[in-house]
Amino acid sequence: MAKVLVTGGAGYIGSHTCLELLNAGHEVVVLDNLSNSSEESLHRVQALASKTLDFVQGDIRDQKILDQIFQTHQIDAVIHFAGLKAVGESQQIPLEYFDNNIAGSISLFQAMQRARVFKLVFSSSATVYGESNISPLNEDMPTGMPTNNYGYTKLIVEQLLQKLSAADERWSIALLRYFNPVGAHKSGQIGEDPQGIPNNLMPYVTQVAVGRREKLAVFGHDYDTPDGTGVRDYIHVVDLANAHLCALNNRLDTQGCRVWNIGTGNGISVLQVKNTFEQVNGVTIPFEFVARREGDVATCFADNTRALKELGWTPKYGLEDMLADSWNWQKQNPNGYRD
Ligand code: NAD
Ligand code: UFG
Repeated sequence: MAKVLVTGGAGYIGSHTCLELLNAGHEVVVLDNLSNSSEESLHRVQALASKTLDFVQGDIRDQKILDQIFQTHQIDAVIHFAGLKAVGESQQIPLEYFDNNIAGSISLFQAMQRARVFKLVFSSSATVYGESNISPLNEDMPTGMPTNNYGYTKLIVEQLLQKLSAADERWSIALLRYFNPVGAHKSGQIGEDPQGIPNNLMPYVTQVAVGRREKLAVFGHDYDTPDGTGVRDYIHVVDLANAHLCALNNRLDTQGCRVWNIGTGNGISVLQVKNTFEQVNGVTIPFEFVARREGDVATCFADNTRALKELGWTPKYGLEDMLADSWNWQKQNPNGYRD
């Protein structure tokens, strides 16, 4: 069993990962500045696991806090989720994104090196793939220049980590390229809780269903896809959380830097999401077609063979589970953690 520092552990993917870590018998220390989350998620994680974790409210850019954590706890590995993730916002306030995501990551890696902790799992994104690649995307395909600053920060940190591990063989790094995380823990106690108007499809759909938004705007229906709407690879957040445990186990006794796609390998359209959500949950989602959103690609889904083979990871949940669980969370928590 390991003692794991989880940065950004109070957030959407982080909270689900903390729960799976505790359930698997690991010890967990969370560092989160709560800029996009609430401590309530961690209270619920601990209640669900009937176990405790250590929470430190602080910033990954704060070297003193990092040193203190590494001095107080015998950390074996770090799972690094902390960062900003809104694509549109990253175009308006690029420096905030460069500072949190790039400078913040460097600050964390420096503290890890001082503490001689070299095992790391990093949250990357399918957005790093070049647009000319054709899905299913595999890890050997070239990365491109992301069209937004958020995606750029992920690419830069991936590259920094590749160079770091090439220069110093003590590092053992997993770069996980997530496709589209959706869903929530079966209990409906933890889930995605975006601030303001959601940017992503799933929280928008559930907020329409619960009456917080009037209707879904479907961005484009003239793509070269079976029904004209955008196709993505949706992955249940609990499956994604478990991929981190598999990557952690893989890295505990291996050196180097390795990339894995974390997706189901299934391409699902926006209309399929909407229609299946209605069928599974027995609710109606009013919608309208609007223009394409700038920067969106028609189709993006994973070749996940490498993760299945090398990590021994298998996604368990299908689209219906993802949509039922997203709705179960939203229904029980119409205003997220702010109830
Ligand atoms: P989230 O916003 O729910 O979680 C991120 C957490 O990091 C939040 O709790 C936030 O308070 C914290 N945080 C932000 N900046 C920090 C800082 N400087 N110091 C300390 N804490 C800080 O997001 P999420 O959806 O859980 O995403 C987790 C990670 O996965 C992010 O790095 C994100 O970019 C990446 N990712 C997410 C998606 C997605 O669609 N959700 C897709 C690909 C990659
Ligand atoms: N969509 C709509 N209406 C909405 C929201 C989304 O029709 O209100 C469509 C999009 O056009 C796309 C699909 O639903 O076809 C999925 O969109 P999301 O915003 O949920 O997800 P993206 O694939 O666009 O975003 C993902 C990750 C980001 C990452 C981005 C890079 O969530 O972290 O890929 O392209 F940066």
